[in-house]
Amino acid sequence: MIKAILEQDSAILQDRFDKTMPSSKEERTEQLRQIKEDVINLKDSPLYEIRVKSGAHPVIGEGNHEAQIMFVGEAPGENEAKRGRPFCGAAGKVLDELLKYAGIERTLVYITNIVKDRPPQNRDPYPEEIAMYGPFLERQINIIQPRVIVALGRFSMQYLMEKLNIANELQSISKIHGRVFKGETSYGKVSFIPMFHPAMALYHEGSRGMMEKDFETLKQKDLFEP
Ligand code: URA
Repeated sequence: MIKAILEQDSAILQDRFDKTMPSSKEERTEQLRQIKEDVINLKDSPLYEIRVKSGAHPVIGEGNHEAQIMFVGEAPGENEAKRGRPFCGAAGKVLDELLKYAGIERTLVYITNIVKDRPPQNRDPYPEEIAMYGPFLERQINIIQPRVIVALGRFSMQYLMEKLNIANELQSISKIHGRVFKGETSYGKVSFIPMFHPAMALYHEGSRGMMEKDFETLKQKDLFEP
């Protein structure tokens, strides 16, 4: 009897260990490829038909599969959906400049969005679209296991603060941008920082200095400690 209980306990512990242990780089690449396949075939999504009819691509994410920092935007724009790459249009140029300002190489981080298909006319994503694509983002976080997660814009901020168990700290992005929160994931604590969406610099010229200051936060060494 005792032996059976001990065996059961150790199986539960092993299962928990397997779920929280980071996978090898090859395993991560395979798991991320699986996400891509799942999104390509996401026929239940209201954005699926629009994507297929327009010959566009879903945008899953790109970057280092062992990245310490993950950036999460809103949804692909026209350029992104044409090329299947996140932040490769005008907002992407601003993001590249902000990364450079903070001394961070784009190839070392992972960049994705909550919604993986382009909403028509670049409208804001609907709650049901966020609910449909959000679980893919959670899978990406659990696979890559970044130490720092940056939300770019209010949609990813809200979704992630709920998932990281810090919804009680939620306020408007103009109040909490650049602040560091400690969120909870299946693999331990992470630093979470909400920031303005890079596109803001395109229509509010004066906002760039504030965005640069927020990006400077990423230079803090203690951000990367669990
Ligand atoms: N805006 C986003 O939120 N994501 C992109 O990939 C491009 C623009």
